[in-house]
Amino acid sequence: MRRHPLLKNLRIINLSEKLLIVIKGELVRALTVKDAVGVGLGAIIGAGIFVVTGVAAGVSGPAFLIGLFVAGVVATFNALSSAQLAAVYPQSGGTYEYGYRLLSPAMGFSAGWMFLLSKLSAAGVVAIGFGSYFYQFLPLISPVFYSVGAVILLTFANYFGIQKAGKLNLIIVSVTLLALLYLFVGGISSVQKENFVPFAPFGFSGVAESAALLFFAFTGYARIATLAEEVREPEKTIPRAVIITILSAVLLYAGVSVVAVGVIGAEKMAASSSPLQVVAESLTAPGIHLVVTIGASTAMLGVLLSQILGISRMFLAMGRRNDLPGFFEQIHSRYKVPFVGIIFTGFVILLLTLLGTFEFIVRSATFTILLYYSITNLSAIRQPKNQQLYGKAIPVLGLIGCLMMSIALPWEVITSGMVLLLIGFGIRWIIKRSNNKRSLEF
Ligand code: ALA
Repeated sequence: MRRHPLLKNLRIINLSEKLLIVIKGELVRALTVKDAVGVGLGAIIGAGIFVVTGVAAGVSGPAFLIGLFVAGVVATFNALSSAQLAAVYPQSGGTYEYGYRLLSPAMGFSAGWMFLLSKLSAAGVVAIGFGSYFYQFLPLISPVFYSVGAVILLTFANYFGIQKAGKLNLIIVSVTLLALLYLFVGGISSVQKENFVPFAPFGFSGVAESAALLFFAFTGYARIATLAEEVREPEKTIPRAVIITILSAVLLYAGVSVVAVGVIGAEKMAASSSPLQVVAESLTAPGIHLVVTIGASTAMLGVLLSQILGISRMFLAMGRRNDLPGFFEQIHSRYKVPFVGIIFTGFVILLLTLLGTFEFIVRSATFTILLYYSITNLSAIRQPKNQQLYGKAIPVLGLIGCLMMSIALPWEVITSGMVLLLIGFGIRWIIKRSNNKRSLEF
């Protein structure tokens, strides 16, 4: 179909059942608090509640409930810092962008690189989690094949430009929320007090590590901050949406976790890679097993789809600044997506899914994302006074929380994270050097 010359730069996309008109790349502000909360919950609820709660129960016993609360509070501080930054710098790139502008190029690069490491590992966790749950639904082939299938499918979906926007996101979020609520309602009367004793068998260090691990369950909230160009009155809408989203996640996770520990106990949770499934199997509510499997599968597929999208856009942003090889900049002529980044992302997630040890990649994802948010908070502290929406206390508390949680992780995880950061700087140095040489040659 031929387009009128005046309409050449006009693209229409359907988001949240509203028509958003994009003229020359400028988005019309059409999203409300409700839409933003939907996007936030869709990006947050995934392997964290369905799988990582089991790992957290293993390191701290039932006291992971305290870890969950601490992680939720720190996530709220961080999310408010992200919202404050996004209100002034609404461009995509998140802390990679803020770090460059407000701190230094090295800090910006560290943020971008940490984002990639963390999200790639997190996507591996989500893919493995999906395989474990989907296998319960269709125990025909090994769970790892389901994980691999999900990564390939969603990499292609991203390649062809499918985004988890609008209706699809709302369906995914609704199915997941209903499944978790059903588990709560169906399980609350089967909770046994004895399952909470001993409450903290591994003491303070166990609780601290569980907080760090469960921080994973709340990540994804920065997705709300990236909507800054698309929401009405972003300076009010985004902080409100952030607080509502995180509070809802804390309440939901707490309710489901109390039921999970109360029904099967922390030890059984820790022994399974699909702990909520084990809980469902012990309950008599009609169809609960199937409902939990479907809720878990939709949640994790949804998170994986947005993770591949986010990671590939970071490859693009870093390729543009010559922090990573220039080929990441390439945009597909037909589908208008950074296809090199998408394929590379899918490939790395596949490798992690096939070769990684689940617990190690969860911890690595958490350590690197905590460093990423430390830089977010530092950037928010650096913002001029007239840009500070809530005073310096919020980013300062967020920074302290991130640093404390990151040192609660095992030393092997901290060391490998730091080594990977150094490798990143090495790659950047090589790229900058070869670019300088090339520009001297011409
Ligand atoms: N918060 C996301 C999840 O739990 C990463 O899967």
